[in-house]
Amino acid sequence: EKKKNLQGKRLIVTAGATIEAIDPVRFISNHSSGKMGYAIAGELADRGACVTLVTGRTELPTPAGVERVDVLSAAEMYDAAVRAFEGSDGAVMCAAVADYTPDRVSDTKIKKCDGDMCITLRRTRDIAAELGAHKDGRLLVGFALETHDEQAHAEAKLEKKNFDFIVLNSLRDAGAGFRGDTNKVTFIDRTGREELPLLSKREVAERIAERIEEFFAE
Ligand code: C5P
Repeated sequence: EKKKNLQGKRLIVTAGATIEAIDPVRFISNHSSGKMGYAIAGELADRGACVTLVTGRTELPTPAGVERVDVLSAAEMYDAAVRAFEGSDGAVMCAAVADYTPDRVSDTKIKKCDGDMCITLRRTRDIAAELGAHKDGRLLVGFALETHDEQAHAEAKLEKKNFDFIVLNSLRDAGAGFRGDTNKVTFIDRTGREELPLLSKREVAERIAERIEEFFAE
């Protein structure tokens, strides 16, 4: 039994990959498993928070005590997250949201021909930046997955999206990133950085929850 330090707090967690349809049988997505976000949602609920998990398609069970909202596309996740953010105390943006989506979805299966084909992609909206622009002192935690210039990119996102802190994971670290049960992260905020050792995703979730408790204690 954990101390219920987040009792009375309403928190949103976004998790998993979005799916952008091309036609009825094909889509564009990414390798996110949702494990990190589900671990965070479960950890926050264990500490007494009322958690809404806005999730892309995953094979994971819903963590105990968490309200789950299933979405497919980036546009659906945007709507669900913006709606849930109203009346909440903050959000943890863990989802791997598509940055681009096909400009139109074909109603019928696209037939192949001998030549190449071209799909025009249009930018999706940035959910985190939208919540950050209407934050009003609420908590906003972001993630950054980078392959190079990690620190600089993460710091730029902290400002651009108005995060309180950002959890950086590098694909360069062994044991970090997609699908696995471990992660190696660095917390970055406006006062500095804290590099954590390789931990289970649940342990990373505990450390994130501790930081969130500190945010609300201040
Ligand atoms: O800019 P980038 O996608 O690298 O930023 C990652 C952070 O922004 C993550 O917290 C992710 O959940 C969030 N994000 C979002 N909506 C998008 C793109 C990213 O909430 N459309």
